[in-house]
Amino acid sequence: MHRSASAFSVASKTPVRGHSDLTQVDWTFLEGYNKFSSDRLYPVSGGALEGNVNFIPIGGPRQKITVASLREKKSQRKAITCLTAYDYPSARLVDDAEIDIILVGDSLAMTMLGYENTLSVTVDEMLHHVRAVRRGVKQALLIADMPFGSYQASAEDAVRNATRFVKDGAEAVKIEGGEKRADLIRRVIDAEIPVAGHIGLTPQSVNVLGGYKVQGKSLTDIEQLMRDAVALDRAGVCCIYLEGIPRDVAAMITAEVGAPTIGIGAGPDCDGQVLVFHDILNLTFSEPAKFVRRYGDGARMVAQAVRAFKADVESRQYPSDAESYHLPKETKTALDAVLERKRAMLA
Ligand code: KIV
Repeated sequence: MHRSASAFSVASKTPVRGHSDLTQVDWTFLEGYNKFSSDRLYPVSGGALEGNVNFIPIGGPRQKITVASLREKKSQRKAITCLTAYDYPSARLVDDAEIDIILVGDSLAMTMLGYENTLSVTVDEMLHHVRAVRRGVKQALLIADMPFGSYQASAEDAVRNATRFVKDGAEAVKIEGGEKRADLIRRVIDAEIPVAGHIGLTPQSVNVLGGYKVQGKSLTDIEQLMRDAVALDRAGVCCIYLEGIPRDVAAMITAEVGAPTIGIGAGPDCDGQVLVFHDILNLTFSEPAKFVRRYGDGARMVAQAVRAFKADVESRQYPSDAESYHLPKETKTALDAVLERKRAMLA
């Protein structure tokens, strides 16, 4: 079912999903904007899918995922999968499992480098991980986070740093922030670098938000989130990450924008879902957030393996003869003879 912009317009006063007071919100900024309309005022940059000369279909033998495939998946209502990966082995495992997007997220600041939050990680540190992941990925789309400080000061900074990410193997960069970042994001896209947006709970704004809190709980905040999503969509982002927002708001955004939405703590109605690799494997040494589902217990598996190794070494069970290298037969016979002569001389 297509929801048109008019469903939100002040003039129609149509209640949205039982939230009768949403009619008080000024939705007029959406006027003239309707992703389903063929005469939209602001077509999403990147062009219509039928305009692509080298379109790679979804399905059949596995194909390289591109920014075009993400939009195709949205239009076919096929769920988009995304996981973070920060090194070569995790990238290979995630890619082999046919996940659509591999995100080298700045969450690596905590999961891989032990920082307290994402603010400390640098471009050079991020690039070190991007290069490792690049070597492990064949099919997935590789998106990398632009870290805090690498784009906020100016569009020139953003383009220069985003270029470094592409040179080291990223196919798109992710930039946090909505309406206020739209012009800067346009500049990066104009430099031929696809950009993924990220709105809602944006961890790089933790000091401004006053903690990691669910966003979009008041009508004013919902209106701002809608503005943010529409601004990013108009700027031409390849997808929008929605983090830590109520599911109803994520559903409204997903219905409104042409760009695929990828949710994390944003409910089931997004076009796709992302989780952090270390979260799904219990490798974070902390209590998981409400939205995290654990699919394995990596911490327990690793701890068991490490303890078993220690016990085997201390009890001389490791290595066994079968795990050792041996001399060639003739060398062994000659060596035995030498040792025997030595023993005889000493006796
Ligand atoms: O850094 C990260 O892992 C992210 C995801 C949580 C979307 O930005």
